[in-house]
Amino acid sequence: MNTYSLQGQVALVTGADSGIGKGVAIELAKAGAKVIINHVDAHQLAQQTVDEIATAGGEAYAIHADVSNEAEVQAMFTEMLNKYGTIDILVNNAGLQRDAKFVDMTLEQWQTVININLTGQFLCAREAAKEFIRRGVVPTVSKAAGKIICMSSVHEVIPWGGHVNYASSKGGVMMLMKSMAQELAPHHIRVMSIAPGAIETHINVSAWNTTAALNKLLTLIPYDRVGVTSDIAKLAVWLASDDADYITGTTIFMDGGMTLYPGFADNG
Ligand code: BGC
Repeated sequence: MNTYSLQGQVALVTGADSGIGKGVAIELAKAGAKVIINHVDAHQLAQQTVDEIATAGGEAYAIHADVSNEAEVQAMFTEMLNKYGTIDILVNNAGLQRDAKFVDMTLEQWQTVININLTGQFLCAREAAKEFIRRGVVPTVSKAAGKIICMSSVHEVIPWGGHVNYASSKGGVMMLMKSMAQELAPHHIRVMSIAPGAIETHINVSAWNTTAALNKLLTLIPYDRVGVTSDIAKLAVWLASDDADYITGTTIFMDGGMTLYPGFADNG
């Protein structure tokens, strides 16, 4: 049972049709927020998330938009503001991987990842911040004028060969988040990142769906388990709540110790 109430708040979660985004959307709805389920090409999956939330007594609504497309992002915000009047929480979650060895990586693989993972966060955050500033703080709703949670990764600090596009996008998300946080704090807007480690979702299925792969992955996780989406979702709810009102401009790593250089345990 969730104790952090987000009653009366409107949240947009990008890429909420599956994986971490879906988990976050469900948990925000449990905490009382009305949740917009953004998806790019998975209308049926998005609708399933909406239905799951409705069955559990919550409220959700699906909107299509490619987060890397400025016009589509603006149209999504217009539709959301027409329906719910405002927005209180943005979870910048949509992201993907296009892995390749560095020398084989195509410009398209590079640009696809940067466009969705980094430019997409910029475009959605910019629209959200405009609305937060226009509306300001509503003390009966939240102490903050708005909250932006950026889904980063341990790879905002851990270099990742074979994935330089992805690691670069997440390193970019770190400075996007911090710079926005610095600029927007005087407006009482909080901006922060969650950096998940290995969480069981479709994005990394090959890293945990066989015993051999799982055992290899676990050598990177001192806490000796792969994360689940509800781990991340509960943190997102807390970060969005007034209990975290003094947090801005920081990344919270939720990774079972992946960033602790496990290779150095009794070594080096
Ligand atoms: C990636 C996963 C990976 C994890 C830990 C995440 O950001 O999307 O594929 O398993 O980082 O390396």
